[in-house]
Amino acid sequence: MPPVRYATPQIAIHWLAAILIILLLATGSQVLADLPNTAEKIGNLRIHMILGVLAGILVIARVILCKRLPALPAVHGEIFARLGHMALNLIILLLVFSGAMLMLQSGALEALFGSAALPADFKEFTPRRIHGLASRAAMALIALHVLATLYHQFIVKDGLLARMRIGSNKIGRQS
Ligand code: HEM
Ligand code: HEM
Repeated sequence: MPPVRYATPQIAIHWLAAILIILLLATGSQVLADLPNTAEKIGNLRIHMILGVLAGILVIARVILCKRLPALPAVHGEIFARLGHMALNLIILLLVFSGAMLMLQSGALEALFGSAALPADFKEFTPRRIHGLASRAAMALIALHVLATLYHQFIVKDGLLARMRIGSNKIGRQS
């Protein structure tokens, strides 16, 4: 019998990654992007980079788990769900990749872990433009993902949210 809900590690990874990614999108666009590239910015950038890499590792772990574990029963609009989940994972990996490229190309890595100064402005580097655009695409995809969840929960009424619920619940017990 196929499982009725995601496995505990998948649920833990989903919510941990969701919190991290929403935090990175909010602080990246509202704080980091507006700060001048002075020495005071280095601490912020360090946290952003470490959390960003962690989000990337969680996404890779979730893709591996998804391939290894048995699939859940198909939902209404399964093809859209699959494409949507794939797009979410890909856009996060693009963010991590473009962020890493930006650090390398701009020489900021030496500023973060050595004694070099930050570049005058990140905006002149192509990976920065890709990172900025990808962050907006990620925001739009996440909004769509949440709307799709609400659509399933309240219009299709298939109890989709319970498949990703934290804690034990009745539908989680496999007989
Ligand atoms: C507060 C916001 C969120 C809600 C309410 C939510 C809800 C859900 C639900 C109910 C599922 C299960 C769908 C199913 O049963 O087929 C799911 C799966 C998934 N969600 Fe979210 N989610 C949220 C945030 C995010 C974020 C920020 C991301 C990543 C950018 C994300 C990525 C995924 C992925 C990739 C899956 C597929 C299952 C997996 O591989 O873990 N979600 N989400
Ligand atoms: C899930 C992963 C990540 C997310 C969601 C994210 C999100 C963001 C956002 C929203 C911005 C501001 C963009 C704008 O408003 O135009 C930003 C800027 C930036 N991010 Fe990320 N990021 C992630 C990963 C990374 C990683 C791994 C690195 C480095 C290795 C990185 C380095 C940077 C840098 C250097 C900036 C530029 C700040 C500036 O222009 O002053 N990011 N990020």
